Amino acid sequence: MQPLANRTTSPPIDDGIRYGRRHVLRVAGAFGALPFLHTLSGRGPEHGSLGAQSDAFDAFADAWRDLHVDYMGGGIEGEPMEDAYLYRLAAEARGLAPTAVPPMMRKAFENERLSTGPAWVGGAIFAVVVEMAPDSVLTPHDHPGHVVVTMGLRGTASYAHYELADEPPPKDDRASPFLVRETRTGILAPGCTTHLSRTRDNMHTFRAGPEGATLVDFTTEIGGPKFSMLTLDAEPEDAFEGLYVARWSEVKF
Ligand SMILES: [Fe+2]
Repeated sequence: MQPLANRTTSPPIDDGIRYGRRHVLRVAGAFGALPFLHTLSGRGPEHGSLGAQSDAFDAFADAWRDLHVDYMGGGIEGEPMEDAYLYRLAAEARGLAPTAVPPMMRKAFENERLSTGPAWVGGAIFAVVVEMAPDSVLTPHDHPGHVVVTMGLRGTASYAHYELADEPPPKDDRASPFLVRETRTGILAPGCTTHLSRTRDNMHTFRAGPEGATLVDFTTEIGGPKFSMLTLDAEPEDAFEGLYVARWSEVKF
């Protein structure tokens, strides 16, 4: 759910650097793409301290890397198979106990409503944890250069995804309205997932429940235009069609 990316070119899918526990971790690049995380640089620990759960996450990370190669360009001809990749990755995540997801290695951003930071980085694939205060909202935003599986770790949060239903104005035009369509809603309890590709459900927002929520984004960076935030009218323009009037907004958390 962290808005990401300003990259215009994709990093190599598999440049020979391995991501497993016993292999070298490549962190440069991924952090630089995260607006939350731009202060981070260089190499960090592979992931936060996990104790006995480390093997379970390492197995998940290895499966994730293999899916990345198989579906997103390393082992196939032609375009990435984003949906096949996301559903397979979500299935792997559902098999991972929420307690097996590493904690943040460090907080890269924090305010009174949320804090966030990387939990694991393996080049173009990385896990980012977001801790949301009770009843807080993560502003709607898009992910034009990423595909993302989000999983609940603690507490509950409601979510909604949207897609463009209109030709939007340029992203620096924050006055002109355009339409988005609500495409997917639900509740993220621990272990539950939702996901987005570059072509469907690409915008999302989260609202934490009364006990707050901790979520993790299993993000894959593909490269593309900048992310943006948007505001939506409180009431739909067309309730049956799920259409809302939207405007691009300042990037602010
Ligand atoms: Fe996001």
